[in-house]
Amino acid sequence: MAEQIDPWGSIQIENYEETMEKFGIEPLKDLKDRIPDKNRYIRRDIIYGHRDFGRVLDAMEEGNDWSMMTGLMPSGNFHFGHKMLADQFVWYQEMGAELYIAVADVEAYLTRDMSLEQAREIAIEEYLKNYIALGLEPENVNFYFQSEGGTHYNTISKLFAKNVTQNEVEAVYGDVNPGKVTSALTQAADILQPEFDENGGPKPVVVPVGTDQDPHIRLTRDIASRFPHQEFVKPSSTYHKFMRGLQGGKMSSSKENSYIALSESPDSACEKIDRAKTGGRQSKEEQRKKGAVIEEDTVFELLAFHLIDDDDRLRDIHEKYSSGEMLSGELKQIAKEELRDFLEHHQRRLEEADERVEEFIH
Ligand code: TRP
Repeated sequence: MAEQIDPWGSIQIENYEETMEKFGIEPLKDLKDRIPDKNRYIRRDIIYGHRDFGRVLDAMEEGNDWSMMTGLMPSGNFHFGHKMLADQFVWYQEMGAELYIAVADVEAYLTRDMSLEQAREIAIEEYLKNYIALGLEPENVNFYFQSEGGTHYNTISKLFAKNVTQNEVEAVYGDVNPGKVTSALTQAADILQPEFDENGGPKPVVVPVGTDQDPHIRLTRDIASRFPHQEFVKPSSTYHKFMRGLQGGKMSSSKENSYIALSESPDSACEKIDRAKTGGRQSKEEQRKKGAVIEEDTVFELLAFHLIDDDDRLRDIHEKYSSGEMLSGELKQIAKEELRDFLEHHQRRLEEADERVEEFIH
């Protein structure tokens, strides 16, 4: 296993247990009983780990202030991989949180080949509109662009440089350059922003992310405990597993067949299901005898992550498919029907979202 996680690279984690152990991420299982109205990702251990999430649960239980903060890297089509985080915001909003959502346009400019204008356009057209279609409401949402942060935000992101050493930056990120360091410190300002005086002062903040963002979380937590001019509650985080691409391997906006975009036509989406990698056996006979290898089945994964919310129904499919009663073609049929319904409904909502963008961008 690599010494570092590179948040700008393309990591694929094989073993979540090992990753938790190595980086000190706690299993979410231990706190699961305390989480009210568990969403699908929590129920199914797709959100598997956390740092100090108990602090956020304490605040919820005691009726104290807490916030959710996260950010998005604008990159290409909005697909089911991105939907995971959006579903989490919407859930946090339903739980009563104030939300901070940063568009990482500065980071995209510094670490990818993208202009601020392009990043803004993608963030609105692809991300924000899909968030709205997925149920995000404008009340108590602070949706902002890193390039438009306020004075305090901008100043503090520079002051943080004094609270980290070169050794530490190299230990956390490996190879660094000025663009990466600036991105990391900007992200620290994003994460700590809900605790600024003008935002109500220190409070528990949860940052839901994929595991690739953990280096930023660790650095920010260190900065929070060392910054001499303001007190911060160390931010909490949760980590979700990534859904694999439909061909196996990583899901990525740059590989057409690895993902289904939420704006894709249902026909094209269903063709991708037809071509997707399953855990089915070589022959029908073998499948009947041994059952499918569900861990390798990307179609089952899509059902579990996104398309089937009813736990009993999913369990039933799991049983039939792993025992050989159900064949891969039948599983794909279920997925195609669910997918078609979902996309048709979602795409109607996307059209309505067009007019609502300005409720989020002031
Ligand atoms: N670096 C994140 C990414 O690549 C985007 C991001 C910017 C972010 N600011 C953040 C994530 C604050 C979480 C919290 O996806």
